[in-house]
Amino acid sequence: MKRTIVITGGAGFIGSHVVRLFVNKYPDYSIINLDKLTYAGNLANLKDVENKPNYSFVKMDICDFDAFYKLMCEKHVDGIIHLAAESHVDRSIKDPFTFAKTNVLGTLSLLQAAKLYWESLPEKYEGKLFYHISTDEVYGALEMTNPEGIEPPFSTTASSSEHHLAYGKDFFYETTKYTPHSPYSASKASSDHFVRAFHDTYGLPTIVTNCSNNYGPYQFPEKLIPLFINNIKQRKPLPVYGKGENVRDWLFVEDHARAIDLIFHKGNVAETYNIGGFNEWKNIDIIKVVINTVDRLLGRKEGEDLDLITFVTDRLGHDARYAIDSTKLQKELGWEPSLQFEEGIEKTVRWYLENEEWLNNVVSGDYEKYYDSMYKNR
Ligand code: NAD
Ligand code: TYD
Repeated sequence: MKRTIVITGGAGFIGSHVVRLFVNKYPDYSIINLDKLTYAGNLANLKDVENKPNYSFVKMDICDFDAFYKLMCEKHVDGIIHLAAESHVDRSIKDPFTFAKTNVLGTLSLLQAAKLYWESLPEKYEGKLFYHISTDEVYGALEMTNPEGIEPPFSTTASSSEHHLAYGKDFFYETTKYTPHSPYSASKASSDHFVRAFHDTYGLPTIVTNCSNNYGPYQFPEKLIPLFINNIKQRKPLPVYGKGENVRDWLFVEDHARAIDLIFHKGNVAETYNIGGFNEWKNIDIIKVVINTVDRLLGRKEGEDLDLITFVTDRLGHDARYAIDSTKLQKELGWEPSLQFEEGIEKTVRWYLENEEWLNNVVSGDYEKYYDSMYKNR
């Protein structure tokens, strides 16, 4: 079947994996990567698919309602997978307005354009989907009731038994009340509410998914794992917020992209699905694994760089624990993460060490200058 799908934020970390998967897997689809190319967007993430006939790129701000409505009409868009967002919590603490503008108003702009265009068609919403990618951070923070970690009441292939731990008795379920704490999660929560409101009010076919922390290739090195890999490589200090006791639930990015593909094609309209691999880690423990892996792959003595760990002032409002229950997705659609966590980390560290040019360009900001000059007259 032919389809025209806009993937917003396709030049970012997760978006580039989703674009690559769709372009390679669905030659009959036309995949439009729509991205403003902020500091986090980098077309070098998609070098391997940029010349494929079913791929195109449009530089656009999701807040530009007129431009997006025109694109919907001209390209007969029938599916939207919406990932474009400001995504870094620390930036949201410094500049919450940008987060409200992009994440809330940008999402509203896409919703309104999709509604107007699809309602104008004879078949209306038949065969259409607005799929909104959200985060587990909208659910707030869970308590650390098992500080040493215990076997969780769920099973998955994602983690080895050693690290397959739960640091509290509660989990985030699809029914968990939204209690966002950071300006980032507040803006994502607000956009999720708008998506559901467009379904409930106008019947727009929507799906929302809430995923845990992703890691893997092409992540901007301001986030924990790529930042630390780069710092260890260069023997720079590793700024660990607070005591490093906060818990995050980590998923390999390609497993998230596979879940998005499955849900886009098989998910039920108006549903919410949590995505996660039951893979909780304290920051300090994951940092030690990253240090050992980088050291080993660089031929250094394992653990040699542990002294780079530097405890710094905690992040404001730092959420204690995130832990996703993805049983619904696993039971209803048969999704499972494909990688053991140790394999995923090994693959990830190897990728950053082997892709030195990508990393150096991103850290220096050179990629921005290159694409600025390329698109400045368009
Ligand atoms: P990212 O910051 O790497 O990429 C965001 C992309 O959106 C960039 O390419 C950027 O240029 C683009 N963008 C930003 N503002 C835009 C605008 N106004 N118009 C058009 N494009 C714009 O983010 P990511 O980590 O890939 O996250 C993608 C989505 O997944 C986000 O919605 C995020 O909330 C969600 N999410 C991320 C994680 C994670 O761990 N990274 C986990 C769960 C959910
Ligand atoms: P991050 O990758 O920013 O993702 P999020 O805040 O969305 O979970 O951070 C992951 C965890 O690592 C989080 O608890 C904050 C912590 N952290 C540090 O300790 N130091 C750092 O330099 C960064 C970027 C994060």
